[in-house]
Formats: sequence, structure tokens, C-alpha cells
Amino acid sequence: MGEDLETYYRDHWVDIEPDRMSRYEAMFQWRDGHEVLIAPAEVNPGHTVADYGCGPGGLAVELARRVGDRGKVIGLDINAEFLAKTRALAARNGLADRVETRVIEDDLIPLADQSVDRVLCKNVLEYVPDPEHTITEFHRVLRPDGIAHVSDSDWGAVIFEPSADRFARIMAAAAVAFRTPLIGRNLYGMFRRAGFRDIQVQVLASADTSGALRPVLTNMASYARLSGQVEETEIAAFLADIDRALEEQSYFALLPQFLVTAKL
Ligand SMILES: C[S@@+](CC[C@H](N)C(=O)[O-])C[C@H]1O[C@@H](n2cnc3c(N)ncnc32)[C@H](O)[C@@H]1O
Repeated sequence: MGEDLETYYRDHWVDIEPDRMSRYEAMFQWRDGHEVLIAPAEVNPGHTVADYGCGPGGLAVELARRVGDRGKVIGLDINAEFLAKTRALAARNGLADRVETRVIEDDLIPLADQSVDRVLCKNVLEYVPDPEHTITEFHRVLRPDGIAHVSDSDWGAVIFEPSADRFARIMAAAAVAFRTPLIGRNLYGMFRRAGFRDIQVQVLASADTSGALRPVLTNMASYARLSGQVEETEIAAFLADIDRALEEQSYFALLPQFLVTAKL
């Protein structure tokens, strides 16, 4: 792997070209279907909540509604443009006074010890340089009765039809975009080693038969292209397979979400 590709898992979040940014903005909006992903965090009025890896702010702004006017949400991300979008979204929703942002510059969280009631982190830990260290930081910033709640994929636990074999080849190449592609199955051990005591794990999966995951698959194709490990013809065939399967109503994809809810 070239030197640039070694840190691509991080760099591709720092520099985002416009078409990828538009895809991300569409993908990372808050949807009612996300409720099950965050319900175990039990975010209540008055809470101070850190949203680690907040992206363009869909979840952060939804959390701001829930914490009420005595609560606060702090969105953290390595991408300053995402943080600006988070602040703008909060302002458009009349919630600017409840949402702060902080840029992540290294593997430390720029928050004081025991300063937040909740840490939420949705689909981020697969990208961080040292997820166990980041989880130790979650432990440090949480108040004694706090809860850390993360959800993540595990790219070895995906089911995709048609062309499971081709998908496996695309994913093997796309792994360049992840630091820990099999994070889902490793979260429990990481939380345990980071010092959390009460750790609940759930795996949620709902079948995608309508192509809702197409933007995710398109991103995987672009990561695979960048890796230089698969031929362009195979990438084109992969994308064409999806369209054909959707038309023939034989498309089926499952991307389980691994949820960990942990107390100190
Ligand atoms: C897949 S997106 C998820 C965004 C958002 N949490 C959501 O679910 O809508 C991953 C996010 O993690 C951020 N990220 C990547 N590496 C990070 C790091 N080391 N520290 C903090 N955030 C990071 C990216 O900039 C991006 O916003």
C-alpha cells in the first residue's frame, strides 16, 4: 500500500470532494428509522451530550431538541466543514444556543474529565486511529452516572445479493478507507478493556430491498477504485448488478449495526 493509502482512512474525512460531500450530506440526515439506533442512550432534558464524529449534524441537532433549553450538545469531528454545517443546521432549526462544536486534532477529546452525561458515537470508530484509546477518552469525559453509546458496522458481517463474490472483492479493496473494518465484533472487548463495567450489546439488522444502501455501496466502489486493487470493469459491473437487481426486484442487502451501551 502506498504511503498516501496508509492514512486514507483518516485523510478521506479531512478532504472531501464536492460530490462525495453531497452524498454524505444526504446519507447522514436524521431519519425516524434511526430512533432504534440511539434509544438505549436515554438522552433526557438537561443532559450535556457529546456527539463524537458528528458529521454534518443530523444527529446532533436531533439530540439538541431532546436535551431542552437546559441541556447542551457538543459536536466533535475532524472535519471543520462538517462542524460548520452542524452549526448552520442548528441555527436553521432555532437551536444554535444548544449546539457547540469542537474540532478533533489528535486522539484526545477536547473536553474536561467527567464533564458530559452522554457520549454518542455513530459509525465513527471504524475510522479512528486507535479505537480503544478513543473509548478510554469516552470513559474519561463521562460523569460517574453517564452512558456511552456507539453504533458501528462490521464489514465482515454484510450480506449482499447479487454477486456476493464480487462484493467481497470490492470490500477487500475498499478496506483501505477503514482503520478497523471489523470493528463491530471488537467493540465489546474494547469497552471492557477501556474500563467500562456494565456493557450491553445488541445487533440490529433490517433488510434493504429498495436500494436505500445504494449510496453506501457507491462509496465502497469509489474507495475500491482508489485502492487500485480492482479493475474498473469489475467496479462498473458491480454498480450495474445493483441497478439490474433493483429492476428485477432480486436486490437484497443487510448491513447489521452493532450497538454498545456502556456505563462506568
Ligand atoms: C460515517 S460518518 C458518520 C457521521 C455521523 N456520526 C452520522 O452517523 O451521521 C463518520 C464521521 O466520523 C468523522 N471522523 C473520522 N475520523 C475521525 C476521528 N479520528 N475523530 C473524530 N471524527 C472522525 C468523519 O469526519 C465523519 O463525520
